[in-house]
Amino acid sequence: MDTQTLIHRIKKLKKEKNALIVAHYYVKEEIQELADYVGDSYYLSKICKEREEKHIIFCGVKFMGESAKILNPEKQIMMASCKSDCPMAHMITVNQIETVKRQYKDLAVVCYINSTAEIKACADIVVTSSNAYRIISQLKEKNIFFVPDAQLGQYLMKQFPDKHFILDSGYCYVHTSITREEVEKLKVAYPKAKVLVHPECLLEVVDMADYVGSTAGMIQYATKSKEKEFIICSETGILYELKKKNPHKVFYTVGTACTCTDMKQITLQDVYDALTLYSSVDIQLDERIAKKARHALVRMHELGG
Ligand code: 13P
Ligand code: SF4
Repeated sequence: MDTQTLIHRIKKLKKEKNALIVAHYYVKEEIQELADYVGDSYYLSKICKEREEKHIIFCGVKFMGESAKILNPEKQIMMASCKSDCPMAHMITVNQIETVKRQYKDLAVVCYINSTAEIKACADIVVTSSNAYRIISQLKEKNIFFVPDAQLGQYLMKQFPDKHFILDSGYCYVHTSITREEVEKLKVAYPKAKVLVHPECLLEVVDMADYVGSTAGMIQYATKSKEKEFIICSETGILYELKKKNPHKVFYTVGTACTCTDMKQITLQDVYDALTLYSSVDIQLDERIAKKARHALVRMHELGG
């Protein structure tokens, strides 16, 4: 089937089945173009809750689809690609969390949304890069066990000198591949450019930023800014929306390895198959785990919305 026919059939099937297609900014351009909603991980978890459609095709990595399912157990959340998973989500174990919980009385386990449902079930609250600061500033606990992203954890720790942070060692292989030297070179070549950084980057890169924030935050910053040139320290998929919203601005990317292979492996054919096969890609969760994880995610929406 050629691309145009495939797109036409997806749109027709979507209408017939009253399904919704949501996508993260890192998926391929043609999928972002086709999706009803494109956003960062916080927005996607919110939109799946707000919309009435009972069938949602999720074009992103597993933890994003799982979060949508936890918040909407009555809806059918189907991963366009079951193989798309975020390695960082698996870099902490339940045992590690339980061990730290036993060591501290006044402790909040703050879990980055890039984690499995089992990890969210052990957490007191979930955060994303767009709301972590706002949420932690409302927590009463002195000790914060931040899992699994060490980079985001270090960035947050610097902003809360009165709290005691215990950090984990998880990381994103895409964002941590960006080096300070590469950003410095671009700054020399384009001195007027503003540096926009995702907080999953190394702290030495984050320290060079004019703006630090989620994918949606970076897009919003560049769109509102009067400046014309930007150095983007994030995954390349974000360029599609940046250029679409800002056709007269220039965006420079850093590094050569800034591609999330899990996000990029999702194809139009996968979206079509998800719409035709339905239940084979349906997310199923243990309700006992989902219930506990729901508490941490609902709390995120209450404190971080
Ligand atoms: P955002 O919440 O900024 O979309 O980040 C998700 C992610 O996985 C970044 O690597
Ligand atoms: Fe995970 Fe990094 Fe891909 Fe985001 S970019 S989904 S953190 S591997």
